[in-house]
Amino acid sequence: MRKKIVAGNWKMNKNYTDGLSLFSEVVNMVKDEVRGNQQVVVCAPYIHLHSLAALANGHQQVSVGAQNAHQEESGAYTGEISASMLSSVGVEYVILGHSERRQYFGEDNALLAKKTDIALANGLKPIFCIGETLTEREGGTYFDVVKSQLAEGTFHLSEADFGKLVIAYEPVWAIGTGVTASSAQAQEIHAFIRKEIAGKYGETVAQDTTILYGGSCNPKNADELFSQADIDGGLIGGASLKSRDFVDIAKAFNS
Ligand code: 13P
Repeated sequence: MRKKIVAGNWKMNKNYTDGLSLFSEVVNMVKDEVRGNQQVVVCAPYIHLHSLAALANGHQQVSVGAQNAHQEESGAYTGEISASMLSSVGVEYVILGHSERRQYFGEDNALLAKKTDIALANGLKPIFCIGETLTEREGGTYFDVVKSQLAEGTFHLSEADFGKLVIAYEPVWAIGTGVTASSAQAQEIHAFIRKEIAGKYGETVAQDTTILYGGSCNPKNADELFSQADIDGGLIGGASLKSRDFVDIAKAFNS
């Protein structure tokens, strides 16, 4: 059975003190209220990660993730953070290929393939993001876009390594806009992604791959989105900055 995951992406928000308070609230609420096997992941800015990993220690249902990692092991890359540094402070997950990194930092599929390799080599679990822009959605090319992002970024991996990935489908037009994909739109493309994975790695790997939806997910729409057959959880931006909203989204999987 594939894992259900609700992951928060704080993006560039929260100073150190506020981040620690928010995370502590999340840990306590998850302990008291989350009933099920869903994993709750918080992807925070670098400065928080060491402390959050310490706070998460002993709380198996909560994990810590980074939002990016450099593609090289180490070296003269001023201002960058490596995958091995992240794992050395207890980080478990790393978001790779978020559309904001693709758009503002010029990250392309080839670079993301390298980042995926180095993350895996250092024991991190990549949350690999794919998703089309509004123009691509309206132009009807969104299947092709998502297919090439997935294939060029991850299909060089061995079956064993691919099995460590989490895929996140985030339509760019739904991120931070308040416009969410309908559950039918999201299910359609999640099923397509799973079919592509099955074509490359076989049905067992495809059925075991966690595929998250991201884009204006909130406590009101999470139930319906997450009840779709191929949606295994969410990657949550704005709503992850409020402990109540974030944990309510995670509770959509309560058994
Ligand atoms: P919002 O939930 O704010 O739309 O952001 C989604 C996102 O980009 C998560 O990575």
